[in-house]
Amino acid sequence: MSDCNRQVWLVSRPTGWPSEENFRLVETPMPVPGEGQVLVRMLYTSVDPYLRGRMRERASYIDPIPLDSVMQASSVGRVVQSRNPKFAEGAYVGGMLGWQEYAVAGEREIRTIDPTLAPVSTALGILGMPGLTAYFGLTEILQAKAGEILLVSGAAGAVGSVAGQIGKILGMRVAGIAGGEAKIRWLLDDLKFDAAYDYQAESDHRARIAALCPGGVDCYFDNVGGAISDGALLNINERARIAICGQISQYNLDKPEMGPRLLFQLIVKRARMEGFLVFDFAKRYGPALTQMAEWVRAGRLISRETVIDGIENTPRAFLGMMRGENTGKMIVRIAAE
Ligand SMILES: NC(=O)c1ccc[n+]([C@@H]2O[C@H](COP(=O)([O-])OP(=O)(O)OC[C@H]3O[C@@H](n4cnc5c(N)ncnc54)[C@H](OP(=O)(O)O)[C@@H]3O)[C@@H](O)[C@H]2O)c1
Repeated sequence: MSDCNRQVWLVSRPTGWPSEENFRLVETPMPVPGEGQVLVRMLYTSVDPYLRGRMRERASYIDPIPLDSVMQASSVGRVVQSRNPKFAEGAYVGGMLGWQEYAVAGEREIRTIDPTLAPVSTALGILGMPGLTAYFGLTEILQAKAGEILLVSGAAGAVGSVAGQIGKILGMRVAGIAGGEAKIRWLLDDLKFDAAYDYQAESDHRARIAALCPGGVDCYFDNVGGAISDGALLNINERARIAICGQISQYNLDKPEMGPRLLFQLIVKRARMEGFLVFDFAKRYGPALTQMAEWVRAGRLISRETVIDGIENTPRAFLGMMRGENTGKMIVRIAAE
């Protein structure tokens, strides 16, 4: 085992689009587990859109990441040294262990991952926070029902691809919006979405969504906001529900876009729009994950990952995810299993 730990630090706060200069690869001494702690060797780490918010000096709902410290993020690894009888050496664990090769953690900071359930990397994606976001967004916020029409933006990403698939499992007609022809083919051919379009090749989203969903939109799972969501809002049916999950089109803007004011639509359509954070459902993660794992095992939920190798490439993976270089969940492989 090496005697040093490589970490990726946040060293400056981005304005507008982040760049690799906002991060630095730093070598630090190997951490030593204290009584009750374990030393974890990281296998995979996650790059997620919410991390952009945590790079701000004032994050809105979660603490900012301090400058000159390791980037905090979900990671999955293996216990290589244990001073806690609850975690055997060799056990797979996950937690907010950061963009680094090794971390020490106590039992409150990690949970055991069962490698027989699915590949352990899925704990960062379909069987982790993004998958749970899709699950609760669909079942709780949208109150999705069989026979209804579901529209998903950001449909080929970690959350969106699962949201659309759960919609199909629940018996909905599912339409997706994503960037690029290859993603559209994946949604239609592999994930069995009923309809999909490439937003990068369109400017009239209202018309395109109307063509995609001739029966209108009963449920809109919004990951992106901006002009796409304006087009979606103009296509909702009476009693529609809109789940505001993410607004990624706005995250790297210095000033948020001022769009057309379309909220009158909510009045005339007696519709409901609700934002949510997956953490609100933390007490119910267990049963939700059991259900999701069953769907994965039965082949009803397909997991796809875009994998970038090397801790030093984590900033590049993050920036790539923000630009849409991922299909499914973007993760970084830090070490071989
Ligand atoms: N509320 C919650 O608790 C919660 C939890 C997790 C995630 N989220 C939100 O859910 C959304 C998706 O997260 P994720 O982890 O699944 O990320 P992701 O979809 O796997 O990756 C981000 C995707 O956003 C798309 N994108 C980037 N810029 C865009 C733009 N200007 N317009 C439209 N699409 C754009 C890109 O796909 P294209 O190639 O299709 O552009 C990119 O692949 C994010 O907004 C995130 O903040 C919310």
